[in-house]
Amino acid sequence: MGARGEIRFLLNGAPVALGNVRPDETLLDYLRLRQRLTGTKEGCAEGDCGACTVLVGRLRNGALSYESVNACIRFLGSLDACHVVTVEHLKRADGSLHPVQQAMVDYHGSQCGFCTPGFVMSLYALWMREAQPSDRAIEKALQGNLCRCTGYEPIVRAARAVSDYGNAASDPLATERAAVIAALQGMKDGARVEIGSGRERLLIPADVDDFAAILEAEPEATIVAGATDVGLWVTKFMRDIAPVVFIGGLDGLQEIREQDGVISIGAGVSYTGAFELLAKRIPALGALIDRIGGEQVRNMGTIGGNIANGSPIGDTPPPLIALGATLTLRRGSARRTIPLEDFFIDYGKQDRVPGEFVEAVHVPVPDAASRFAVWKISKRRDEDITAVLGAFDLRIADGRVEAARIAYGGMAATPKRAKSVEAALTGKAWTQETVEAALSAYDDDFQPISDMRASADYRMMAAKNLLRRYFLESTGAGAVNLSRHEAA
Ligand SMILES: Cc1cc2nc3c(=O)[nH]c(=O)nc-3n(C[C@H](O)[C@H](O)[C@H](O)COP(=O)(O)OP(=O)(O)OC[C@H]3O[C@@H](n4cnc5c(N)ncnc54)[C@H](O)[C@@H]3O)c2cc1C
Ligand code: FES
Ligand code: FES
Repeated sequence: MGARGEIRFLLNGAPVALGNVRPDETLLDYLRLRQRLTGTKEGCAEGDCGACTVLVGRLRNGALSYESVNACIRFLGSLDACHVVTVEHLKRADGSLHPVQQAMVDYHGSQCGFCTPGFVMSLYALWMREAQPSDRAIEKALQGNLCRCTGYEPIVRAARAVSDYGNAASDPLATERAAVIAALQGMKDGARVEIGSGRERLLIPADVDDFAAILEAEPEATIVAGATDVGLWVTKFMRDIAPVVFIGGLDGLQEIREQDGVISIGAGVSYTGAFELLAKRIPALGALIDRIGGEQVRNMGTIGGNIANGSPIGDTPPPLIALGATLTLRRGSARRTIPLEDFFIDYGKQDRVPGEFVEAVHVPVPDAASRFAVWKISKRRDEDITAVLGAFDLRIADGRVEAARIAYGGMAATPKRAKSVEAALTGKAWTQETVEAALSAYDDDFQPISDMRASADYRMMAAKNLLRRYFLESTGAGAVNLSRHEAA
């Protein structure tokens, strides 16, 4: 089948076919400038404030699910075969307010109103999922929405009360589900999408093989998975990212499964998509995912992108390195699998040749003899980037350290193992004395820098204190007993 020259999606109640889409055009610009749907606001344009929140419905294995996303960093070209729902879609034929909106009015959840459409959309997504959400679920759903006026309590009260105003089962997103599924299925024709000419092109591969062929032929193309990094290259740094290949909708990269004690995560799996299995099998990783961005970022961002970007402060590489994860890279039909830690060569330099892409990461599930923990230190608990992150996987038998894998983020130019510290612990009695003696080995492993997130001294002190915390909690003296692989 030849390439299709347009993207197709549903916008609220209407089908859209667009042949004129710039490779770097954001959904927010399209909504506000081209469609004049100005209910969706622009606050920060970097995925932090949630004023631009809309819902995106997508078919996965025939099932339709809606997720909140940040329209400011979501590229329009990534929406092929999706249902985009904006705040305007909540309007009722008789002019009355939607239950979420009425609850926000009655509980005084809005003052200046700038953040309100974003909060309404996040609460709408929550209500469609859970009609009677717990306070924890409400907090989680709102992690990615900022309000400078209300102090949040009225918004949380509104969230608790939404079901008093209507029944989620009779909401149009529920009652029109079958029709939306049929419409989206009709848009999935299995064709490659190619829009534009020369460098100014956007491509959506037909499948993973097609993606491999495109990248082999055009290794300079920008791969976009969740766009939570690349979106900011456009909105904040005005970088030219064309030509662009969108891979977020490729079913072949969406698989997450466990086999023989190893969880394999496809490069297109979002944090939200990975959460359930990881939280069940490696609870400390689940707890960490809850602290990555806000809900909208977790709905878009991928673990594959978090690895591929090579950042020294990405949250998932250190724990995955501590767990002994491996990475499958693919170029054309050739694949190679390497230890994840070997992927990170230096700042901005990864072991990835032109035309190669990250296909999947494979994570061994720690067994009962292993004590796995990971802690993220940042200035704010929610929606903040790591200053220091430490991950520990030690095997302790008969009071001695049999094996140790310890990795940090924020302490070097790459995510990095603390090999000298590991050596100072291995074979020793698991005692406070051993831990205190091993602390001097940190100077051999790390020379951290000072920046806006933390000073070098703070980083070093925090890194050492995380080992102390691990000791205390593993021996039952800390706040949490690490007899299973638990962490906060
Ligand atoms: C508001 C906000 C909060 C954030 N908070 C956190 C946080 O708490 N912790 C954290 O670690 N990160 C955070 N991030 C950063 C970001 O969300 C993560 O790094 C995310 O995992 C990136 O994944 P993505 O799919 O969005 O990547 P993209 O932006 O699509 O891509 C990132 C990079 O990886 C490349 N790439 C993507 N997929 C592949 C592939 N399969 N093969 C080869 N290259 C590929 C892209 O070309 C690009 O260079 C935050 C971002 C925002 C906007
Ligand atoms: S405008 Fe702030 S998150 Fe999009
Ligand atoms: S009501 Fe003013 S920012 Fe939220």
